[in-house]
Amino acid sequence: MSTQDNAKRLAAEAAIAYVKPGTIVGVGTGSTVNYFIDALAALKQDIEGAVSSSEASTARLKSHGIPVYDLNGAGDIDVYVDGADEINRHLQMIKGGGGALTREKIVAAVAKTFVCIADTSKEVDMLGTFPLPVEVIPMARSYVAREIVKLGGDPVYREGVTTDNGNIILDVYNLHIDEPIALEGKLNQITGVVTNGLFAARGADVALLSDGQQVITRT
Ligand code: 5RP
Repeated sequence: MSTQDNAKRLAAEAAIAYVKPGTIVGVGTGSTVNYFIDALAALKQDIEGAVSSSEASTARLKSHGIPVYDLNGAGDIDVYVDGADEINRHLQMIKGGGGALTREKIVAAVAKTFVCIADTSKEVDMLGTFPLPVEVIPMARSYVAREIVKLGGDPVYREGVTTDNGNIILDVYNLHIDEPIALEGKLNQITGVVTNGLFAARGADVALLSDGQQVITRT
């Protein structure tokens, strides 16, 4: 296993401490979360089940025999565990590298506590080196791209990708994200945008970051 994969695994396993017995756990998407799902399998008798942020995570949860519930019937979610493409010191993130940003943002909104798990390479001083994913209704693609250019970004259509919600992704380069909450709001105001990958208004509550040797907790 590479050092980075080992770091992801350590961060993911540390998140198990935040899972309360008898609850439905919110589960994100990505390679770091896959380690969390694998670790959660050992606890499956102790939890009620999970709500999932993607078809990929749902399939992995089910392959371990963990029941997956519809969010609408799940009630309160105590904890949501997910990765990030970038995270700053305020625990604001860019997410959506795996294209699951909309469902991730919905489960994060419901959850009482958002635990971000990542290797330390995801820590940044300023968000925006990683291109910001924006999920867009397909017919609005060109319009939204032109509006994003007006905001100073360079949108690139993620070729061949359809999200779990049937939409497309624009990856936006060269944004100057010095005010993440304001930019998150501005992007959401563009007609045709479903969600953008800035998780700033609702960031993480806890970050578990690992370099492969130890896990650092940030709050
Ligand atoms: C998926 C995400 C992931 O959390 C993010 O891309 C990090 O993925 P990984 O754990 O594979 O590095 O937002 O939409």
